[in-house]
Amino acid sequence: MDSPTIVAVCNQKGGVGKTTTAVNLAAGLALQGHRTLLVDLDIQGSASATLGRSPSEGAVDVARVLLEDRPLDEAVISTAVEGLSLAPAGERMALVDLHLASAYGRERALERALRGPRVRDHAFVVIDTAPYLGLLTVNAILACDQVLVPVSCEYLPMLGLKLLEQTLEQLRSRAGARAGVLGYLLTMVDRRERITTEVEEILRGRFGEAVFRTVVRANTHHKAAPSFRRTIFEHEPSGGKGREDYEALTAEVLSRLGKAPGVKTAARRPRVRKATPSGEGIVVRPLARAGS
Ligand SMILES: Nc1ncnc2c1ncn2[C@@H]1O[C@H](COP(=O)(O)OP(=O)(O)OP(=O)(O)O)[C@@H](O)[C@H]1O
Ligand SMILES: [Mg+2]
Repeated sequence: MDSPTIVAVCNQKGGVGKTTTAVNLAAGLALQGHRTLLVDLDIQGSASATLGRSPSEGAVDVARVLLEDRPLDEAVISTAVEGLSLAPAGERMALVDLHLASAYGRERALERALRGPRVRDHAFVVIDTAPYLGLLTVNAILACDQVLVPVSCEYLPMLGLKLLEQTLEQLRSRAGARAGVLGYLLTMVDRRERITTEVEEILRGRFGEAVFRTVVRANTHHKAAPSFRRTIFEHEPSGGKGREDYEALTAEVLSRLGKAPGVKTAARRPRVRKATPSGEGIVVRPLARAGS
């Protein structure tokens, strides 16, 4: 059994589109026929709430996995999206950082938990993380192969990117993190606003090819979909720009990982929809590592 490719969606800045991106990228991958597991590692449990699944009474969730050193296999549940599974956060998630602070091997608790056969039966694991660089996020970074960084088109979120880069660098040099930066993703893009153009110019100037070509446009459907407990693919009519953006992101992610349509992965095959044209022809290049 191949190991899944693990992508952590990280940015310690709040409200930049991490959960929206984690949920819709995971759904996009599943709809392309790649069995995908979304792991909710945020105490807010927003990804779990969006997918409409909170664990039943007494069920194992991600919090219990980390508090009780259990395999994450025990927390995996199905969702309404074919091929998409969820490991919901759970109510006790807020206790996990404190618990891990005094636990042996605390920074790799998630990595250990991800080794079971049910997790490994997925082609991708997408991790939604919390808006701070605590032990939970460190666990996500040490467990993952790639970090995807959403950046909303505002001034302040850009300021925090240096800290994220430094954290990644330190985790690589001191803790053996293997994570590369899969890409920086511009979210909430509104071309009528000058700040959008400014942020895009600065980001592309600073990170070049590491910035995804795909941008996620500002779209009220993204705000509404979670309240209906739907992904954008279930919520927005076909042809909608929210679906289009996340289909394009899915294609670009697959392309960057060398798993574009036609390339075999460990995926089992649920219903396969056609790939978006926007992902075709994207050149696969070595993954950018911040600071290298
Ligand atoms: N492209 C978009 N257009 C408009 N609204 C968006 C877009 N993406 C996300 N939103 C909305 O912006 C808010 C923040 O998004 P989201 O919850 O995904 O960010 P986050 O980084 O996960 O936040 P937190 O740091 O609190 O976990 C939410 O209300 C979400 O619905
Ligand atoms: Mg979130």
